[in-house]
Amino acid sequence: MERTLSIIKPDGVARKLIGEVVGRLEKMNVNIIAMKMIKMTNAQAKGFYAVHAERPFFDSLTDFMSSGPVVVMALEGEDVIAKYRELMGATNYKEAAEGTIRRDYATEIEKNIVHGSDSPESADFEINYFFNSFEIVG
Ligand code: RTP
Ligand code: MG
Repeated sequence: MERTLSIIKPDGVARKLIGEVVGRLEKMNVNIIAMKMIKMTNAQAKGFYAVHAERPFFDSLTDFMSSGPVVVMALEGEDVIAKYRELMGATNYKEAAEGTIRRDYATEIEKNIVHGSDSPESADFEINYFFNSFEIVG
């Protein structure tokens, strides 16, 4: 069993895609074990994406991620990190496979609707960044 962190980004919430994303997750063989809506401060977004601090898109990304409410979820299942990243599609929606969330809904490389952890180590950091043990049902 593995865990991953999912975020429906501000563009996904603003465009009323919460149900669409959650619906796709519920059709997969994974469980949502934690879920809430929050609005990050800019500092919280910078802390979350600290691994990207040196990237040229860091300020823009963290401004975007703190620009409106997001839905954060912890998911659990076999191979869930890879399975969920497959459901999301490539970072650049133009390169994302047919039928993926990003291919279907993203409008820019940055505004790509969803986030997913990329390794067990980042999943652990990211889940603990948003949820305490009482908020995780699993
Ligand atoms: P994420 O962390 O959000 O799940 O996305 P990812 O792993 O597919 O991509 P990553 O390289 O971790 O980048 C994080 C987010 O930064 C934005 N981005 N902008 N302007 C750009 O060239 C650029 N590249 C990445 C995207 O919102 C990406 O999801
Ligand atoms: Mg990433």
